[in-house]
Amino acid sequence: MPATVVVGTQWGDEGKGKFTDLVAKEMSMVVRYQGGHNAGHTIVVGGESYALQLVPSGVLYDHITPVIGNGVVVDPRVLLSEVAALEAKGVDCSRLRVSGNAHLILPYHQELDVVFERHLGKNKLGTTKRGIGPAYADKAARVGLRVQDMFDPKIFRQKIEVVLHQTGALLARVYNRLPPDVDEICELYLAECAPRIEPYVADTVNLIHDGLDAGQHILFEGAQATFLDLDHGTYPFVTSSNPTAGGACIGAGVGPMAIQRVIGIAKAYVTRVGSGPFPTELFDDIGEYLVDVGHEYGTNTGRRRRTGWFDAVMLRHAARINSLSEVAITKLDILDGLDEVKVCVGYDIDGARHDHLPYHQSDLHVATPVYETLPGWKTDLTEVTERRELPSAAVDYLAFLEEQIGVPITLVGVGPGRRQFLHYDAA
Ligand code: GDP
Ligand code: IMO
Ligand code: MG
Repeated sequence: MPATVVVGTQWGDEGKGKFTDLVAKEMSMVVRYQGGHNAGHTIVVGGESYALQLVPSGVLYDHITPVIGNGVVVDPRVLLSEVAALEAKGVDCSRLRVSGNAHLILPYHQELDVVFERHLGKNKLGTTKRGIGPAYADKAARVGLRVQDMFDPKIFRQKIEVVLHQTGALLARVYNRLPPDVDEICELYLAECAPRIEPYVADTVNLIHDGLDAGQHILFEGAQATFLDLDHGTYPFVTSSNPTAGGACIGAGVGPMAIQRVIGIAKAYVTRVGSGPFPTELFDDIGEYLVDVGHEYGTNTGRRRRTGWFDAVMLRHAARINSLSEVAITKLDILDGLDEVKVCVGYDIDGARHDHLPYHQSDLHVATPVYETLPGWKTDLTEVTERRELPSAAVDYLAFLEEQIGVPITLVGVGPGRRQFLHYDAA
């Protein structure tokens, strides 16, 4: 049975957690394929809010096997505390499976993330300081450690000694920090974490393929988003993995033909947390309104998100990069109080009109959005569950987005709760 990907189409926090949870009902497995605990995916069920970082959003359903794929970077201490917190809320995590090939985030990765950012000063990337970039850098440099290394103490120690030969010197001599202690890391990862992580470790590639062969529906849950992608995002203001749909193939171990459906998640406006270009960013009262009404603060880091109007240029690009088969629009209800709503349909760059993302990023930094203005609907949408209940101005807004993106809109979110959505494509 072919698989589905859920992918963020903007700069993250589009509502991937909620929409993964919505479509997960029909799935047997939900697989995270990249990123780490830089993600914060919120699901609200019956008034209870779950902010998931590493554990896939499918964990809330008893029939789903949540899988952390080989492409994820795992801090075992964070994973164990997330599992403990979920179990304390009554969520059974015993079905969780973690790839033995997933790379580990080690304490020195987090330290490097902090000192690199400090060193960049006002040019900082605004990372989540979770050690994500340094862990992926070690993976690419072939000095990373994998989850499976935690079960071979000799290899684990040997690899740590090799990597710390350089990283220890970097931290001590360049950044004036104490060099990491090999014994301390071995004690923490081998003695404390390994026995508790072991029950979850599995050959996830074969697990996923056995599921596909048995006709199961499998969902790949992206973290971060298209414009935070290491290759396709606004580099260097990106994360260090490939959140785009193609990343699911690498980070879970399936070929492109396995994927049939790609759902792009897009907020009805845009937010970004951290540094980098953002053509439609608002610095006025409407920007403040979106922060306040949309509660635009990081799920785990608490950072205030930057806000702006919906950008159709970005979405057209995301549709191409990800082969989007459909789009889910989230947080439409946040626009309920506005007299009018704007959509960026193109960029003006040095007097020339661009309908597609400029190839050179310096152009993106100076791009002026070309807006179309539509009337607001000034109606509370949070109780709407069917398309025919939507006010005509809201339908017009969605129809305009659909036309601009060139991909059908199927689902629309009108509140954080599990039931607060509608099938836009249903008659
Ligand atoms: P993710 O990282 O893409 O999973 O998104 P986050 O969970 O970081 O941020 C999305 C926020 O919006 C969360 O607080 C969700 O509960 C909330 N949310 C998701 N969909 C909707 C929606 O349609 N309306 C409203 N009002 N909130 C939503
Ligand atoms: P979810 O999955 C929004 C941003 C950081 C920073 C950049 C690099 O919840 O959508 P990193 O720590 O990854 O090296 O930071 O990426 N970032 C996110 N922004 N949502 C996320 O995840 C993010 N994960 C990373 O703010 O700009
Ligand atoms: Mg988030």
